Amino acid sequence: MKVLVVGSGGREHAIVWKLRQSSHVDKIYCAPGNGGTAHIAQNIDIKDHEIDQLLTFAKENEIDLTVVGPEVSLVMGIVDLFQENGLKVFGPNKKCAQLEGSKNFTKKFLIRNNIPTAPYVEVRDIKTAKEKLENFGYPVVIKADGLAAGKGVVIAENQEQAHKALEDMIVSRKFGEAGDNVIIEGFLTGKEASILCFVDGNTMVPMESAQDYKKIFENDLGPNTGGMGSYSPNFLYETTYKKEVEEKILKPMLEGFKKEKLDFKGILFIGLMLTEEGTQVLELNVRFGDPETQSILMRLETDLVEIMESICEGNLENMNIKWNDKQAVCVVISSGGYPELYEKNKVIEGLENVDEDVVVFHAGTKLEDEKVLTNGGRVLGVTALGNTTEEARKKIYKEIEKIRFDEMYYRKDIAQDSNY
Ligand code: AMP
Ligand code: GLY
Repeated sequence: MKVLVVGSGGREHAIVWKLRQSSHVDKIYCAPGNGGTAHIAQNIDIKDHEIDQLLTFAKENEIDLTVVGPEVSLVMGIVDLFQENGLKVFGPNKKCAQLEGSKNFTKKFLIRNNIPTAPYVEVRDIKTAKEKLENFGYPVVIKADGLAAGKGVVIAENQEQAHKALEDMIVSRKFGEAGDNVIIEGFLTGKEASILCFVDGNTMVPMESAQDYKKIFENDLGPNTGGMGSYSPNFLYETTYKKEVEEKILKPMLEGFKKEKLDFKGILFIGLMLTEEGTQVLELNVRFGDPETQSILMRLETDLVEIMESICEGNLENMNIKWNDKQAVCVVISSGGYPELYEKNKVIEGLENVDEDVVVFHAGTKLEDEKVLTNGGRVLGVTALGNTTEEARKKIYKEIEKIRFDEMYYRKDIAQDSNY
């Protein structure tokens, strides 16, 4: 069969890498792809938001299955568009994609369905925002309601920072339309966990747990990023929180989908805060996480095409999904300056010297004249399996030494605290 993967990040490289292992797949296109997918798929020069062009491409090339990586395409309604045109597509429809496209929509859904989440208010104008802020202590969390590439969340330590964040979003419109509505939310303390689930409307199957590192600097300091590293499984979650989450979060979530006729089909990503008073939902995403996917898919043994097709057909209940019991770690290499300003087009050297049992997933890269160049903030996701996380991370950090580009940066503490 012919598969089209939409997206250009590390997540999409990992998806393409996994789909390539399927005996059902003859040809993979990736739109627009990156320097890594160029080696294992055919890159197509169409961006994730150009959903009409993607439809035309899929029709003209008789694509059997389209797999949508990024939230942008999902929130725009790519799934509805493809389905109206009789094409098979993996991902949730536009209505369900609001669970990522609007934090207020998600908060309301969670509260209606008695799923634990931090207290919040939604505000639209700066005067009300400043008034409502007075009801919260510090730190406080300020979030743009819409999509902001993982950067629309500010943790304000005091009133001055909170006012600045509110003004940036509401008055200066730092995140454009995404800041039309703003959420002010109580601050939660604890460790985070990322739980990704396969969902087909009737059945929800959690994948192996993962941990993401959101902050740019070691020891979780500095601003939030899209994610600087990951590991799977998440030890704290597995040992202490798993049962509670299944009972208090996953079950009511699926019930809520059914009750509200959301017909969610695809990947549900649940961002959790594991607090001493129990687990709270921080956010929902409607697609694979990046860089969680790089770690998680290294551990998936079942054919991903078969899982995706079973979800499209509403037959997930009958799938037996298998994982290896290794520990996976992914360390992201970024461009100096990210998540603020950074430069592109630096030549990446040494990739060919990396050992074969370490997989270098590309994110912000492109191929030009046989050379791999940087093309984004997060550039590479160096990923490996080990019998322990310590073994995996040692392997990764040793191999990273072979990779070089100007102003390359990575955190040296990924998975150090994993406890495995
Ligand atoms: P979100 O996109 O809502 O998950 O927010 C991104 C990141 O901001 C989360 O992964 C957390 O690290 C942090 N964050 C979001 N909401 C809260 C909260 N209520 N309390 C503490 N940290 C939060
Ligand atoms: N790593 C978090 C995300 O994909 O949103």
